[in-house]
Amino acid sequence: MKTTPHILVTGGTGYIGSHTVVELLIENYEVTIVDNLSRSNANVLDSITAITGKTPNFVQLDLCNADAVTTFFNAYSTPFDAIIHFAAYKAVGESVQEPLLYYHNNVVSMINLLQAANTNGCNKIVFSSSCTVYGQSASLPVTELTPRLTAESPYGNTKQICEDILRDTVNATNIQCISLRYFNPIGAHSSALMGELPLGVPNNLVPFITQTAIGKRASLSIFGNDYNTIDGTCVRDYIHVMDLAQAHIKAVEVLLATNQAHHYDIINIGTGVGSSVLQAVNAFEKAANLKLNYSYSPRRSGDVEAMYANVDKAKAVLNFSSQYSLEDALLHQWQWEQALQRNG
Ligand code: UFG
Repeated sequence: MKTTPHILVTGGTGYIGSHTVVELLIENYEVTIVDNLSRSNANVLDSITAITGKTPNFVQLDLCNADAVTTFFNAYSTPFDAIIHFAAYKAVGESVQEPLLYYHNNVVSMINLLQAANTNGCNKIVFSSSCTVYGQSASLPVTELTPRLTAESPYGNTKQICEDILRDTVNATNIQCISLRYFNPIGAHSSALMGELPLGVPNNLVPFITQTAIGKRASLSIFGNDYNTIDGTCVRDYIHVMDLAQAHIKAVEVLLATNQAHHYDIINIGTGVGSSVLQAVNAFEKAANLKLNYSYSPRRSGDVEAMYANVDKAKAVLNFSSQYSLEDALLHQWQWEQALQRNG
């Protein structure tokens, strides 16, 4: 009798994917990763093994190649019990410069995956969505019923489009799906063996903070201090990547337990707490016990003023709530930055 659910993790060598693979292995799931390694490094597999003592199956595969995806699925006589679909490009600014790259990569890969999964009787999917689908909501915190606004970027639009493709596919097939709308993922594994790998100059706040602290960048620019917030800087809901990983385990558990046809759900994954950029900088200074060079710059175009989650549904449906504090997440990312420097 089969006892160990087999989970396919697309994009499993990426930032959130790799942390989720660690949690899946710790919970004794069998894991197969597919990743084209275009934005990640196969070395992360060694880190996963160092942390868990287990090695996930790994197949290098481009989900945009429909034939290759079909061949991959056909090689398994028993369907995967569930898929967690992380594989996607995620840089907002790059998506504005290269919209076709983003629409092609993020949407075509999703369609190929759904077609192959449906054909092969693999019908439970957890999807990586984003709070970017809400835009600047008029009311905060945002709930899952808060209307989506026109996306601010092609990246954000790919998340909206993929959510819609999933909803329509669930209506028409046996596929069941939970879309998780992440707020701002930050942090690294508490072992300092794994974290986000930097690609050029960081766009995101926390890698910019840690790279400034370690001396790779001269100073952090805080974009805007004239917003209508507690201290004039933008407010976000920063969630530790290890908490986010746990949310995926809970979502898989819920999907594996449900027999409900046409099950499609959308769930916010955040902490429920908004922190300003300045509060994040202060929390970092406290966690790392140092002073950070920073100054104020004009607003960054496309930034929303404030965004944080209502997390009631995550608690009710997934029994999930975040465990790590903002300072924990910042400390872990700082330890990861220091480990990167030690290892050259
Ligand atoms: N910020 C700075 N200086 C920097 C970088 C960022 O002040 O050098 C500020 C931004 O202006 C913003 C806050 O820090 O106010 C957070 O910015 P991030 O770039 O870290 O995160 P965003 O909220 O802009 O974007 C994140 C993800 C996106 C996702 C979006 C959803 O990176 O993938 O959340 O709202 F779409």
